[in-house]
Amino acid sequence: MTRSDDAPGPAPSVTENDLWLMSYYRSSEINGALFFGRVARTIRGPLVVDVTHHFSDEANHASYWTQCIDALDLRPIRQSRSYQDRYMEAVGVPANLMEVMAITQVFEKRVIGQYRLQQRYSGTHPLVRGTIEKIMLDERWHVKYVREALESMAGEYGRDTIEQTLTRYTAADEEVYAATLAEFGERIAFLSETDARHPG
Ligand SMILES: [Fe+2]
Ligand SMILES: [Fe+2]
Repeated sequence: MTRSDDAPGPAPSVTENDLWLMSYYRSSEINGALFFGRVARTIRGPLVVDVTHHFSDEANHASYWTQCIDALDLRPIRQSRSYQDRYMEAVGVPANLMEVMAITQVFEKRVIGQYRLQQRYSGTHPLVRGTIEKIMLDERWHVKYVREALESMAGEYGRDTIEQTLTRYTAADEEVYAATLAEFGERIAFLSETDARHPG
């Protein structure tokens, strides 16, 4: 059974789990904004423009999710610990700008992957879909400028050190994602399955 984009049926209903996911995404974007706000406040040098833009993007993403939840006549569910908190616990606070960029690259890839899974799921509500579409335009730029920033740091930090840092953070990311699945598996596992599951 296929669904034609130009002939939408009735909008899928929003479940408690959908609200939990939107709240989780919102909370994650807020933490991204807070993290990049701190970086933007302290950074010196040419990356200040991009990092400040990045901070404002993540704040906008949190606002898009809040508006999306509000448009569905709902309120965000409070989230305890974010994905970013778990990262910091797993790898420690980044010690320099290269480590900030490296952890960001790994994290942004995870975010894009998660949003792609959400987009692929046929039961995703049109408002959620539209929100992710808007966010993804920025997330693609984040990955791009961060990759370029890391390339530009090869002279200062050494290519090997940057590669090792990325490898270390990628391993931490897999560990954190596995822990997240262990804790919230039933809330997000369906996104990794096929579209066979009936929405709602
Ligand atoms: Fe974001
Ligand atoms: Fe981002």
